[in-house]
Amino acid sequence: MINEKIEKSINDQINKEFYSAYLYLSMSAYCDSINLPGFANWLKVQYQEEVTHALKFYSYLIERGGKVMLKSIDNPKTEWSSPVEIFKDTLEHEQFVTRSINNIYELSYQEKDFATISFLQWFINEQVEEEASASLILEQVKRVENSNNGLFMLDKELAQRIFVDNTIKTEA
Ligand SMILES: [Fe+2]
Ligand SMILES: [Fe+2]
Repeated sequence: MINEKIEKSINDQINKEFYSAYLYLSMSAYCDSINLPGFANWLKVQYQEEVTHALKFYSYLIERGGKVMLKSIDNPKTEWSSPVEIFKDTLEHEQFVTRSINNIYELSYQEKDFATISFLQWFINEQVEEEASASLILEQVKRVENSNNGLFMLDKELAQRIFVDNTIKTEA
C-alpha cells in the first residue's frame, strides 16, 4: 500500500500533467488560428506526450494499490500575443512541473518510499529534456521574431515532429 501523502501528491501530479496537456492543446489551437500549422503540430504532439505522462502516474498509483482521484482541470489561457510568448509560457510551465516532481521526489525520501524514488527517476530525466527543448525553441523563435521568412522556415521545421510514446520505451 502506498503512503497517503505520496498518494495525494501523485494524484495532484496527474492533474498537473492533464493541465499541461490542456495548455498545449490550447496553444496548438491558437497557432492554427494564426496560420502557423507547424507550431500547432509541435504543440499537439506535446499535448499527446503530456497525456502519456498523466497515464504513467495513473498506472503507477494503481500498481501500488493507491486510489486514483481525478479532479477538474483548470481552464488554460486561450490567447497569446506572439509565438515568443507561447514558448516563454511553455518554458515557465515546464520549470513549474520540474519543481513539482522534485517536491514529490523529496517527499519520497522523507517517507522512505524507495519504489517511488525509483519510479520518479524517469520523470526527472524527462524534465531535463522538456526544459531543454522548450528553451531551444524559445531561442529560435526569438531569433526569427521579426522575419516572416524565418518564421515560415521554423514553422516548416516544427511541422516535422511526430508523436512517439516514450513512456513505454525500455531503458537501454
Ligand atoms: Fe509532463
Ligand atoms: Fe512537459
